[in-house]
Amino acid sequence: MARFVVLEGGDATGKSTQVERVAARLRERGLDVVETFEPGATPLGARLRALVLDGIEPVDPVAEALLMAADRAQHVSEVVRPALARGAWVVSDRFVPSSLAYQGVGRGLGVAEVEQLNQLATAGIQPDLVIVLDLSLEAARARLGAPTDRLEGEVGEFAVAVHDAYRELARSRGWALVDADGTPDEVASAVWSVVCDRLSP
Ligand code: TMP
Repeated sequence: MARFVVLEGGDATGKSTQVERVAARLRERGLDVVETFEPGATPLGARLRALVLDGIEPVDPVAEALLMAADRAQHVSEVVRPALARGAWVVSDRFVPSSLAYQGVGRGLGVAEVEQLNQLATAGIQPDLVIVLDLSLEAARARLGAPTDRLEGEVGEFAVAVHDAYRELARSRGWALVDADGTPDEVASAVWSVVCDRLSP
């Protein structure tokens, strides 16, 4: 049966590595798996990603939320929905929860407002499981080194707000919170046990 798994967390929490690890384990079980990410997984999305992340000019918070939602609408229609429709598992590095944490809380647009905007973008498609990789800001900063894009370059209050938002949203929405302060193997085992417990692949 098709399942939609989303890996979430702040920058440098190791999401992309863990997406690969989960996808590999699922494939070992003979499942058809699509690995994907936001923003930028489609050709249009790649252009939107560059617009929102690579520019030097300030981006209005509402414009930022709309660009992320535009990327997501294209991603859902081109990648996520077709994969789920053919019965594949989809494992995505980020989805709506990123917008709730970064734009809803970090930018202060409001979680309910950003969620409503994303209803339109996703046509109601929701993950079966959201796993948040939880890493202290100090550890994340040590892993990051020099910032590589506009949002990574933001420090201080914004990063703290996003970090705390993930914890709070995980608690209130039943997202799994996994400690990401370990080796990739250790984190992969913790992530895999959540997948097994919640989705019995
Ligand atoms: P990435 O580094 O995981 O590829 O994500 C790029 C940046 O975009 C990251 O700083 C988080 C941010 N982002 C949002 O602010 N809102 C969103 O909805 C998504 C998907 C990403």
